[in-house]
Amino acid sequence: MASPEEALDVKALPKIELHAHLSGSISRQCLHEVWLRKKAAGETDLEDPLVVMPPGKHDYDLKTFFPLFSSYIYNLVNDEWALTYTTTRVLQDFADDGVVYLELRTTPRALGPLSKADYVRRILDAIAAFESSSGARLRTRLILSVDRRNTPAQALEVVDLCRAFPRAQVVGIDLCGDPARGGIEALSPAFEAARAVDGLGMTLHFAEAECSGSEAELDLLLGWRPDRIGHVIHVGERARRAIVERRGMGLELCLSCNVHAQMITGGFEAHHFGEWWKVDGCVPVLCTDDVGVFGSPLSNEYRLVAQHFGLTKDDCCKLARKAIDVIFGGEEEKERLRKIMW
Ligand code: IMP
Ligand code: ZN
Repeated sequence: MASPEEALDVKALPKIELHAHLSGSISRQCLHEVWLRKKAAGETDLEDPLVVMPPGKHDYDLKTFFPLFSSYIYNLVNDEWALTYTTTRVLQDFADDGVVYLELRTTPRALGPLSKADYVRRILDAIAAFESSSGARLRTRLILSVDRRNTPAQALEVVDLCRAFPRAQVVGIDLCGDPARGGIEALSPAFEAARAVDGLGMTLHFAEAECSGSEAELDLLLGWRPDRIGHVIHVGERARRAIVERRGMGLELCLSCNVHAQMITGGFEAHHFGEWWKVDGCVPVLCTDDVGVFGSPLSNEYRLVAQHFGLTKDDCCKLARKAIDVIFGGEEEKERLRKIMW
């Protein structure tokens, strides 16, 4: 007889992904293809992505992870063609994994002649082209990220970009970046301005590392009134109570990322998903964070919670559907998802 996990086809299960960074979601094979083309055109001196990030290597920790972007991936995905090519492939990968709704996040970057607004526009164009031609059920919305290393003016620029694009396309703002980087009080004006933008959702990387889990920082972040928070690892009793009291806050939990990056100890069994998934008053959502780096597609995250926390097929379906409550994509999209996911 099939065990409950075997009975659930995790790939076929329609799923919602709410925490995926565009540049971190590009597969190594796709980066390799970009590299091949640039190498042939004499446009890059970088080493082959399959050498820099060997297949099967997923143990990037917080020290080695962030330079991967600033020193490597950003130098490869550095023009309009590469941006469109990689975005389209990321969408295809999520669609192939059974994702039906994706909130993709990215930090706007100027790429040569492309301004930050052009960068966002090209990604939205790639999303629109994918939706009209692929036949996939996947719908994608964009979240724009403020990096912790951004200046207050750069953070405000991200808010302006959120404002400039229609809510049907850009649905939220995020705070990401190296958690070892302090000084985020300076970003408060930007997040307060973002809170005032009609219909714009807010999600924040929250208590990802011990150094970013102080009561002062968590109070500051909760003071920006986020709708969702990501990772939620180093939270004390006070922050935990505050989260639950908010009622309905989305918790973007990323098991493989946290385990591979050694952000938690004790492996999958020790992951705080085990504490949160039954807590009334918040909405835990399984997410991949950076599937290109950590190698675990969303379907596998469902397999992992079934394996390590004993979720039944029914539990997994309920968990997947519950995410509808905390998407930023609006009522019409929620209705579409209810039809697909029941
Ligand atoms: P991008 O914003 O599309 O370029 O995606 C890559 C960026 O996302 C990185 O430079 C990081 O700043 C950010 N990022 C990816 N994963 C994490 C994470 O786990 N914590 C904080 N920031 C992250
Ligand atoms: Zn993240």
